[in-house]
Amino acid sequence: MMRVAILTVSDKGSRGEREDKSGAAIREIVEGMGGRVAAYEIVPDERPQIESALRRMAQNADLVLTTGGTGIAPRDVTPEATRAVIQKELPGITEVMRLKSVEVAPTAMLSRAVAGTLGCALIVNLPGSPKAVRECLSFIKPAIPHALELLRGEGGECGRTP
Ligand code: MTE
Repeated sequence: MMRVAILTVSDKGSRGEREDKSGAAIREIVEGMGGRVAAYEIVPDERPQIESALRRMAQNADLVLTTGGTGIAPRDVTPEATRAVIQKELPGITEVMRLKSVEVAPTAMLSRAVAGTLGCALIVNLPGSPKAVRECLSFIKPAIPHALELLRGEGGECGRTP
C-alpha cells in the first residue's frame, strides 16, 4: 500500500489560525488512490523546518506531498527547501502541473513547485489552495505508481538512503 506523508507549509496553519483544508483534500485524494497517510505535519514557512520535515518523512513514506509556499510571496520558500533535500529532480512532474494548470488558472504560472526523489521517496510540491491541490494531483496522478515502482528498483531495494 502506498505510504503517503502530507506536509502543509503555512504560517497561519502552524499557529492554528487557519483550518488545513488543503491537507484534508490531499488525504481524501490519496486514500481514494488506495494509499495510506503515514505522516501529516504542518510547519511554518521556514526553510529549516521544511527541510527537516521532508528528510524525516522521506524515511517512512513512498510519496511526500507538500502544499503551500510555492509562489513568490516574501515567505514562500518551499521550492528552495525541497531543492535542498532532493537527490534527483523530476522537472517533468512540475512542468505538467503548471502547463495543465494554466488552462484552468493563469496564475498557475506563478507556482515555483519542485519535484524530486529522496531515497525511496518521491517528493512533490503542490500549491496551497485545496482547489489547486485537487487540480494538480489529477494531472500527475497517472504517473505516480510507475514513479514509485522505479524508485523501488529491482528486487524491492530502494534508491540511495537519504
Ligand atoms: N495551480 C492550479 N492548478 N490551480 C490554482 O488555482 N493557483 C496558483 C498557482 N498554481 C493555482 C495553481 C497561484 S494563485 C499561486 S500564487 C501559485 O500556485 C503558488 O501558490 P502557493 O503559494 O499557494 O503555493
